[in-house]
Amino acid sequence: ARVAVLISGRGSNMAALVYAAKRADCPFEIVLVASNDPEAEGLKFAAAEGLQTYAHSHKGMKRAEFDHLIDVALREAGADYVALAGYMRLLSPAFVEGWAGRMLNIHPSLLPKYKGLDTHERALAAGDQVAGCSVHVVTAELDDGPVLGQTEVAIIPGDTPDTLAARILIAEHQLYARVLADFVSRGTDRDRLEIG
Ligand code: GRF
Repeated sequence: ARVAVLISGRGSNMAALVYAAKRADCPFEIVLVASNDPEAEGLKFAAAEGLQTYAHSHKGMKRAEFDHLIDVALREAGADYVALAGYMRLLSPAFVEGWAGRMLNIHPSLLPKYKGLDTHERALAAGDQVAGCSVHVVTAELDDGPVLGQTEVAIIPGDTPDTLAARILIAEHQLYARVLADFVSRGTDRDRLEIG
């Protein structure tokens, strides 16, 4: 399966997917890394790995117009699936509709808890003993679609948002590659069944 990854910054989840894709038994390849920020750190990694990249600033553009640009880049790259990985843009309804059932996101909380930003601060402020991360199918509502997989991460006394985020990030890297592999494999099975 051909996967495009959308990033806005560091891109460590994208890197985890890139490394996962190098395994001989991995059912996906990364065909494009695209960003709404031409300065995104992750773009350098992707280019150094020899991957195709696309970057265009969203600044000064209407959301739907910008999403159309991204959509064209994804389709030109022949992407079958889209993986959002620290992509800090709300998506227009038309874009979400166009990739319905083929777009995943990773979020650093145990959804449905703590949608949106500052998840680690909120988990600590609530006195939670367990935090974690989730991979879900992207729907029109932010951080809302069906959850495909989660990893729980214990909160340690003395944790700060930063220490907790760093530990959850390790779990994110494992979870995203595994869930994406399962997801595209199921798609392949489904397609084969429909043909046969
Ligand atoms: C991750 O914690 C991800 O779950 C969240 O934003 C962060 C992105 O980190 N959506 P990176 O760019 O993948 O390193």
